[in-house]
Amino acid sequence: MAGVFSLVLVIAATVFLVVAAGVVYSSIRYRSRGLGAPEPKQIFGSRKLEVVWTVVPLLIVTGLFIVTVRAMVLIDAPQNSTHPPELVIIGHQWWWEARYPDGVVATGDIHIPASRRLLARIESADVIHDFWAPDLARKMDAVPGRWSYIWLEADTPGTYAGTCSEFCGAQHAWMRFRVVAETEPSFEAWLQRQAQPSLAPRGIAVEGARLFQTRKCGDCHAVTAAGAVSPAKGPNLAHLASREFLGSGISRNTPESLMLWLTNPQAAKPGNRMPDTKLSANEARALLAYLESLQ
Ligand code: CUA
Repeated sequence: MAGVFSLVLVIAATVFLVVAAGVVYSSIRYRSRGLGAPEPKQIFGSRKLEVVWTVVPLLIVTGLFIVTVRAMVLIDAPQNSTHPPELVIIGHQWWWEARYPDGVVATGDIHIPASRRLLARIESADVIHDFWAPDLARKMDAVPGRWSYIWLEADTPGTYAGTCSEFCGAQHAWMRFRVVAETEPSFEAWLQRQAQPSLAPRGIAVEGARLFQTRKCGDCHAVTAAGAVSPAKGPNLAHLASREFLGSGISRNTPESLMLWLTNPQAAKPGNRMPDTKLSANEARALLAYLESLQ
């Protein structure tokens, strides 16, 4: 698609320069030379001219059409694929979830192996979103009740920014994600780490783990990456402490911002689905300790 863009740019620039040069030349060469000066030669009807200015644009547009269709075929993943996708990406108001074939579920950061083309299935859990990682793939709408497929590919390992590209409600602007492309071995290691449960909570975190269940946090949030609540109502919290951002990029993952999510979620990200938890200060501290223990 970048190649098509460059080609269109060069052709359009050439046409612009030719037309602009003609306009400038004509305005100077055929300018008014005062009263009584003879008019330049007028042309009324010229088959040669008509043919040239019809055929040349027709050839250009036909050429671009062929090049564009070819690029679209190369870019598009098969839409009714019989292959199981290597990655399922689900848009929620307002966060992204990635599900891997072996049951691992990731929120926020989507990890992929670099230098391999992945077939990704894009879904939505609520309204229409649009998955867009500009460096890695085309845009693809996430439509409720419908499966769409894209190729996702990173040539080199690295972290690539992505965002929702279809207005989907109050926090559309904070529906960011990152694609972390890694070498095959470190991707496999990441998958294995995710599948492992976090270490058992200790100290005050034990009380937090209990509150997590009694305060019904677990109704919406899973704390293990594998075997997550399905369909997930809230983001998966497995290995939450190892994440860099919270709320799809709205804040860094610091104890202060995590505490704000626990005590006043609507201040952390207005409009999100998390209800007011009405925790006491001690309960919030215990829950925070538990969430921070999810390394
Ligand atoms: Cu999701 Cu905009």
